[in-house]
Amino acid sequence: MQDVTALERKLTLELVRVTEAAALASAQWVGKGHEKAADHAAVEAMRAALNGIDIDGTVVIGEGERDEAPMLFIGEKVGTGKGPKVDIALDPLEGTTLTAKAMPNALTVVAIAEGGSLLHAPDVYMDKIAIGGGYPAGTVHLDRPVKDNLESLAKAKGVRIKELGVCILDRERHLQLISDVREAGARVYLIPDGDIAGVIHCSDPATGIDMYVGQGGAPEGVLAAAALRCIGGQMEGRLYFRTDEERERAARAGIEDLDRVYAMEEMASGDVMFAATGVTNGSMLEGIHLKGSFVTSHSVVMRSKTRTVRWIKASHVRERKGH
Ligand code: FBP
Repeated sequence: MQDVTALERKLTLELVRVTEAAALASAQWVGKGHEKAADHAAVEAMRAALNGIDIDGTVVIGEGERDEAPMLFIGEKVGTGKGPKVDIALDPLEGTTLTAKAMPNALTVVAIAEGGSLLHAPDVYMDKIAIGGGYPAGTVHLDRPVKDNLESLAKAKGVRIKELGVCILDRERHLQLISDVREAGARVYLIPDGDIAGVIHCSDPATGIDMYVGQGGAPEGVLAAAALRCIGGQMEGRLYFRTDEERERAARAGIEDLDRVYAMEEMASGDVMFAATGVTNGSMLEGIHLKGSFVTSHSVVMRSKTRTVRWIKASHVRERKGH
């Protein structure tokens, strides 16, 4: 069995090919109003690209359970089977509605880690809180009132609360949270979808976002934790169940303590690599653009072990990719 470290360089680039393939495929559906078709195109392309890589991969965060997802379901084996044993978390199209409506910030996303090091989060909600890097451990906690977290973060940053920006998914379930943040004095950056990027934004001062808080998808939570492990930051997540069926789903995924608060390092431990490619233009990545006989893509790939973050702009011959 080859060690994952022996393949590190090759794997980081291979990962970008995977997210690029999904982005190029789903970009054909930008603005067409078909969420499912856009997602399907991304899934097929991502699966084909993953199966060309020399890894013995298992999808641990995917398109759903085996009986509900024909491809890239949880437990599906991907790769040629020849390389290192790795866990794969993926979101072939993060922002299906954003893509269908040609709105900003749709991404294709993959994370890869040594076998057993990614939380096998079921497809339920997760309460999340995240901040960027450079703050003392424990600056924020999921169980604290948001005002206390803002006070603590403002103190750690050496600013007043009114200088902090907080990213929250624009959902009715967040109305109280939004009002609490505003009452505490901070700015609220509402996003229509796409909380993986929302979390990552905390690590980039240019976004004006210092904290991400709220409830989004648990799979997206693990992917965001993988990214933040690479770029630096703090995050906590706790699964949120609405029904007994969701609790059973968690049990099937091997989750024993349903109330547990997971630290970022418990959601994504070991050596983690994360890649994303923009589908539509966004604050983190530019989308896919047609330029004459070429298609350009913008991707980011990072690795927790080295904390290297690479931004990759690629030009693809249009015909070869089926455009
Ligand atoms: P999709 O790409 O599956 O549409 O998910 C987008 C997303 O906004 C995620 O980023 C987020 O975690 C989740 O949906 C929030 O779920 P909901 O739309 O149910 O509030």
